[in-house]
Formats: sequence, C-alpha cells, structure tokens
Amino acid sequence: MSSASGVQLDSRVTEFVARPRTMFINGQWVHAASGKTFDTYNPATGEVLAQVAEGDAEDINRAVAAARAAFDTGPWRTMTASERGRLIWKLGDLIEEHVAEFAELETLDNGKPLTISRAADVPLAAELFRYMAGWATKLEGSTIPLSVPYTPGAIYHAYTVREPVGVVGQIIPWNFPLLMAAWKLGPALAAGCTIVLKPAEQTPLSALRLGELIDEAGFPPGVVNVVTGFGETAGAALAAHPDVDKVAFTGSTEVGRLIVHAAAGNLKKVTLELGGKSPNVVFADSDVDRAIAGAASAIFFNHGQCCCAGSRLFVERSIFDRVVEGVSDAASKIKVGPGLDPSTDMGPLVSEEQLNRVCGFIDSGMSDGARAVVGGKRVGDKGYFVEPTVLVDTSDDMKVIQEEIFGPVVAAIPFEDPSQLVARANDSVYGLAAGIWTQDVAKAHAVAAQLRAGTVWINCYNIFDAALPFGGYKQSGWGREMGKEALENYTETKAVCARVS
Ligand code: NAI
Ligand code: MG
Repeated sequence: MSSASGVQLDSRVTEFVARPRTMFINGQWVHAASGKTFDTYNPATGEVLAQVAEGDAEDINRAVAAARAAFDTGPWRTMTASERGRLIWKLGDLIEEHVAEFAELETLDNGKPLTISRAADVPLAAELFRYMAGWATKLEGSTIPLSVPYTPGAIYHAYTVREPVGVVGQIIPWNFPLLMAAWKLGPALAAGCTIVLKPAEQTPLSALRLGELIDEAGFPPGVVNVVTGFGETAGAALAAHPDVDKVAFTGSTEVGRLIVHAAAGNLKKVTLELGGKSPNVVFADSDVDRAIAGAASAIFFNHGQCCCAGSRLFVERSIFDRVVEGVSDAASKIKVGPGLDPSTDMGPLVSEEQLNRVCGFIDSGMSDGARAVVGGKRVGDKGYFVEPTVLVDTSDDMKVIQEEIFGPVVAAIPFEDPSQLVARANDSVYGLAAGIWTQDVAKAHAVAAQLRAGTVWINCYNIFDAALPFGGYKQSGWGREMGKEALENYTETKAVCARVS
C-alpha cells in the first residue's frame, strides 16, 4: 500500500492493517467473545483503516482472570527482579528495532506527522522501558528503629518491603498511543504487577503490535493483556472489575470522575492523568524570539492534542503585539497535511468527534467576542484538519479560556501587572503544566514556586524525560507518571515487625 502522498509503507505495516486484529489475552491472540469487530479510521482521509476485535465485559473478565492467575500463581512473581528488568529492557530494544514500523502505524492511526512519531513517540517509548527496567532491581524498603512504649525491654527488628499492588487495569487515550502504553506498562512491570491494558478505540493498533513484541520478548502469559474495545463497555468493565487491584487512567476529566466511581466498589487504587489548561507566561525580559518559537510549539505540537498544551498564553503588555504577531506568523507557516507526507508539519485531528469539538470551541470563542488573528477554520472537507489558530480579545471567564480545547488553538492574553499574573494563571480547575519565559533567574523560580502545576518549564516547553515525574495538581489528576514517583502508583508498602528479644 502506498499512501495518498505516495510514501511507500513498510510491508509489515501494510499487512498488519490489512488483516482483522485480534486481542492479546493470556499469551494468545483471540477474537472478542461476542465475535464483534469495529473499524478504526485514517484521520487524514476519514476512510476505514483497520478492523479490530470489539472486546467488552466478557473479554475483560477473561483478561482479568489471566492477569490474576499470572500474578497469584504464575512464574512472574517468583522471577528475580533482575530477570524482570531484563525483559523490560528487551522490550525497549525491540521497540527500537521496529521504530520505522511503529512510526508508520502510529501516523496512520493517529494522524500525527511521521517525522514526529519517528523522532518523539517511538524513541520515547523505548527509552521509558529502559529507564523503568533499571527500577526493577531498586525498589527497596527500609529498616525502622522502634520504641514501643508499652513493651518495655522488648527488641524488635522492623523493616518495610515494597510489593507489587497486584492486577492493574490501564486505560489510555489516543494522543500518544504507543507512548501512553509505555508510560503505563513500564512502571507496572518494573514493580511486578500484571496488567490489562485497554487502548483508545480511535488508536488501538500500536498497542496490539506492542503486544506482539511483549510476546516475543518472553513475558510469561497473562502478565500483559491487551483488550481493544470502547470506553463505555470494555473500559467501564475494567474500571469496575472486583479482581482488579488498581486502575490507572489517562483521558478526559469527565471520564476520570466515572473511573473514581467505578473503582469505589472494591476500593481499588486509582491514578488519573487528566486534562489541562496550562498557562504559558512570557515576560518582557525574556529572549522574545525564543519565547515566540516556544509559545508556538507549546500549543501546536501534536496539534494541541496534549494534556499539557500551553493553551493560555499570557504575555506582558509591552511585548504583546510582537508576540502575537510572531506566534501568528509561526501558525500561518505551519504546513497542514497528511502525516505521511514528509513536508507536513501538522496532521489531522484524531477523529471527526475531535474535529467537531475543536471547531465548536473556536465558534464559541468567536460568539463570545474573541477574534482569530490567524486560523479559526477547518481545512478542506476530507480528513479532520483544522487551521492552527491564535485567539485574542478574550476574557478570563470565556469557555475558550476555562475549558480544555485539545486542539491547535491558543488564546493570547495580555497582562499588565506581574503581581496579578500568578492569580490569573492559577485561575483554572486544572493544574497540569505551566511555562515561564524570562531571563531573570530569580523571577523565574519565584513564579515557578507560586504556580499550582505539576510541571513548570522555564525557557522551554514540552520537555519530557522518563526520569522526570509528570502529573497534575487539582482536577488534572492523581499521582505521577514517569520518574521514580511512578513506581509508587504500583507498589504497596508492607511493614514487617519481628520481636527478636
Ligand atoms: P475519553 O476520556 O473518553 O477517552 C480516554 C480513554 O478512556 C479511552 O481509552 C476510552 O475508551 C476510555 N473511556 C471512555 N469512557 C470510559 C468509561 N466510561 N469507563 C472507562 N473508560 C472509558 O476521552 P475522549 O472522549 O477520547 O476525548 C475527549 C476529551 O478528553 C478531549 O477533547 C480532551 O479534552 C480530553 N483528553 C485528554 C487526554 C489527556 O491526555 N489528558 C487524552 C485524551 C482526551
Ligand atoms: Mg469520551
């Protein structure tokens, strides 16, 4: 198959999408119990891309039973930490061996430019597994001196052990399909958990290919299960399942709330990585050209389909016009087109639903009195393309300022008084990320200290590293992804207390 743009696809990718995809349960590739399948679409064309098994509650039951058995009685629990680490490292290596293939699959399914899938999504996924592989052997407890007052003279030996939390349900979104799978699986595997992963219905392909590599790497059956299907059926069943010890979710804040309710039945542990409306603040004493380039990429990277997108651009009044002009100029130079075309800077949004949602937000901004300096419209009538858009003349209570748009739409907001800036930047139900552009080191750190956000970038934006924890304050979530903090999501601490005399 060659794409519309004439790019010759890897034959493995062509074959992978041509055959209906089964799901990965207990080390086997199986059809949905119901026999049903669903279509995924190529967002660049709106045409059917692949057919995938439509898992539902019955398939979740099968997968959870497999994960439960693998956790309770399988070889995974008795493997040494080093053996576990080696398997995780091998998975990272296998992903790297298949970079080109994964990148094409991701671009076909999600729409993002191939240059980005190749340079960012796939290598970051490989790196995440390698980073987490090292943690498998480093999950240590501590020894604790006791001074129990009601047993005078007794001596105790007390220590803590970090044990895997058990069977984990992981529900991930479509904006970075492979990378989100890696962020979730990596720490859970390092901790020794077993997993049922449910990828987003819009983009299930790279998780299924990853399942093949998990098999090839030699993970025991049932350690990782991949069930494809819809959120309201498969996802909901996983979040509510009584044999699941923990659920980890990335997606909308609305569904995050449903996950919390679903988890209440057996009080499973919950971590959530939800929406954002991140402030990106440009001070007059910044390196303005760098700040302009940084502000444009903070919102337009991945078509704004990033939970941490710098969607509220606060600019000090004296440089406001210059920054708006610079960001608008950058926006108008972005080449929007199919992700497989090597000259494309920005691909389509992931789905028709997202296209309508993002265009709906732009329309609401306009009818509330905002103005688009550039952009504001859909591109063409085939595929889900939207123009990179810069809005001005907003007020802080507008929907486009308060709600997550999740598209290439930034609102530029002037501020006069740096002392009021922090309160406006923090005026959001979200608290995922923030950016600060200034050459005044003291100001940078003083503002960073006051922003209620899980990540603050200074003179940079969208910098991710497997070692750097990521997650939200307020309604942006519970817990952290990546870094050593991520391991805390997947371990329980056991205190062992022995009387020795
Ligand atoms: P969503 O939250 O509905 O979907 C994310 C995942 O949750 C998918 O795997 C989906 O199948 C699953 N899901 C949906 N309903 C579920 C339920 N009742 N129980 C269990 N799992 C369920 O997000 P959607 O509808 O794709 O996008 C809507 C908005 O969510 C976007 O416009 C954006 O604002 C936000 N979003 C945020 C993301 C982030 O990275 N924080 C990622 C994707 C979406
Ligand atoms: Mg949804």
